[in-house]
Amino acid sequence: MTGANATLVGELVAAGLEPREARWLVEEFFVGDDPEALVALHAAAKRRLGGEPLQYVIGHWPFRSLDLDVDSRVLIPRPETEELVETALRELVAVDVVAPMILDLGCGSGAIGLALLDELSARGVMATLLSVDASSDALAVARRNALKHDLLAVAFVQSSWFDAVDVSLRGRFDLIVANPPYVGEDEFVNLDPVLGYEPRFALVAADASGVAGFRDVETIINEAPAWLTSAGVLVCEHGNMQAEAALAAASAAGFTSVTDLADLAGQPRVLIARR
Ligand SMILES: C[S@@+](CC[C@H](N)C(=O)[O-])C[C@H]1O[C@@H](n2cnc3c(N)ncnc32)[C@H](O)[C@@H]1O
Repeated sequence: MTGANATLVGELVAAGLEPREARWLVEEFFVGDDPEALVALHAAAKRRLGGEPLQYVIGHWPFRSLDLDVDSRVLIPRPETEELVETALRELVAVDVVAPMILDLGCGSGAIGLALLDELSARGVMATLLSVDASSDALAVARRNALKHDLLAVAFVQSSWFDAVDVSLRGRFDLIVANPPYVGEDEFVNLDPVLGYEPRFALVAADASGVAGFRDVETIINEAPAWLTSAGVLVCEHGNMQAEAALAAASAAGFTSVTDLADLAGQPRVLIARR
């Protein structure tokens, strides 16, 4: 880091930023050592000091093998969702198909599906992906991320879960992945205020079957069997109080093998359901 940059970092720290974040902002915005870069840096620092998540201020963030563009139109991809990708890769190996078809429901920035495409391609597996979101804003970000990483075996559909997915694709997916909204309305008000910067639609779901925030997870579990191949698998993230309901819903929906995995923090987090 140059002397000028170190001085700027010091100024941002004095203004209240954490040293690590101040350094990242300087590295991101103060390129070219010109007045415009300085204006951009100060604008970014102001946004961060105002409480906006660092990921939105920087505008991109690493997720597994990818550097994803993120802004306030999409959820910031979470570390536990990186674990979901690992789980999905493992489950797909067990399905053992040469050219798997994957459905990513509620794709947001595109994180899960695009990471899967990228990592499968690095292993020589040419998968095809359908990324679905009800939000046209989210789909615009996901499309940009696919282009950014030259991931072309993907189509995008604006749909509420399966509603607008072409019926000819019923029974065709080897893997369905989803990280749907699962925070209940009442829980949302007590959560970290940083979440207020993210789209509420990406986080909050209605209650169902007596479980807070369970409706979207339940809808996906109920409808997924019809869209999977006979060996296909659903990998669905859910809230840490929803594991029991997710397992029960999966058995009732006709899945024959259902398990639930804990995340690194030991919280039940991911349903794995096989037809
Ligand atoms: C928790 S975010 C997950 C985003 C991304 N998959 C990730 O893991 O970072 C949930 C996503 O579901 C989308 N969504 C919410 N309700 C939906 C619905 N009824 N149908 C399809 N997508 C929906 C939101 O727009 C949001 O992008």
